[in-house]
Amino acid sequence: MPDIPLDLRSDTVTRPTAAMRRAMADAEVGDDVLEGDPTTRRLEAAVAERLGQEAGLFFPTGTMANQAALWVHGAPGTEVLVEADAHIVHWEMAGAAALCGLQPRLVHPASGAMRATDLEAAIRYPSAHAAETSLVCLENTHNGAGGVVTPLEDLQALARLARAHGWPVHLDGARLWNASTATGTPLAAFAACADSVMLSFSKGLGAPVGAALVGTRAFIERAHRARKRFGGGMRQSGILAAAALHGVTHHLGRLVDDHAAARLLAEAVDGAGGARVVPPDTNIVMIDLPAPRADAVVARAAALGVRVSAWHATRVRAVTHLDAPLTAVRAAAPRLRQALDEALAGA
Ligand SMILES: Cc1ncc(COP(=O)(O)O)c(C=O)c1O
Repeated sequence: MPDIPLDLRSDTVTRPTAAMRRAMADAEVGDDVLEGDPTTRRLEAAVAERLGQEAGLFFPTGTMANQAALWVHGAPGTEVLVEADAHIVHWEMAGAAALCGLQPRLVHPASGAMRATDLEAAIRYPSAHAAETSLVCLENTHNGAGGVVTPLEDLQALARLARAHGWPVHLDGARLWNASTATGTPLAAFAACADSVMLSFSKGLGAPVGAALVGTRAFIERAHRARKRFGGGMRQSGILAAAALHGVTHHLGRLVDDHAAARLLAEAVDGAGGARVVPPDTNIVMIDLPAPRADAVVARAAALGVRVSAWHATRVRAVTHLDAPLTAVRAAAPRLRQALDEALAGA
């Protein structure tokens, strides 16, 4: 049974299922900093294989994995071209600058997530007075845009452009699982557009912790050193890797349910109080308000038993997940609609 109130603030709020906890308890483990942890190795190999990549590396968080990729690909004193609303820009504590010596150069997409035309417009002519670019970062699905999928052809066009300039591409694929589920595009086809990919286990797949980086063997060897430097060398990490493996094996197939619940919620609340919903591609529902009252909407919704989050003053986010079954979302939708109506009255 879901908790009351229904928590739709993020897909990270899920608790490990009983079966996932059993898999964790039964995990075969070793010291991953010394000779290696067997369950972690199995996870890394399984994810690399699914993504069609040579090697994988388990990380405690997606943030650390993204930062390790920036550290490997980017030279200090150069620029990383990244979409203005990317997780790497907003939610990673300026790690690109602080940890990697990189200057983010923000690309502003015409709409939704970055496309090749947006990237092209941001490219400068070479100049002795400007920093060189060393890397392009993409995000699929795009969280800030509302779980938006960058379709394969668009990702391929972005990769072609970056490669024409000799720049590696890092793909923040925290929710690439959702992009693949929504489009039917194999994970490996998306991954072929990048030189490294990060994938999260602690979001749609319902694991308590963890992310992976995948790429070439040479890239992963360098990422391993970065992980150690960032303090991410873990010991009996198989306990956590077992949860991730369980998520990949048992929860990937149910992401369609999250997407259906998001569509249901979006249709149910669109227009309430004059709010407009970004039609969801996946499991993230962004609700744009006609006035800067996100805090009031969040408070009113919580009082009515639905937790959502204020993305910014005029945008509220609701995310569907493993602990928010369709029946619970269906029951919550009229309450969120009521909260919007009441908090936006007179706006
Ligand atoms: C797109 C994206 N990238 C990276 C991350 C970072 O993952 P973590 O919370 O495991 O550090 C998140 C987390 O919400 C995310 O949404």
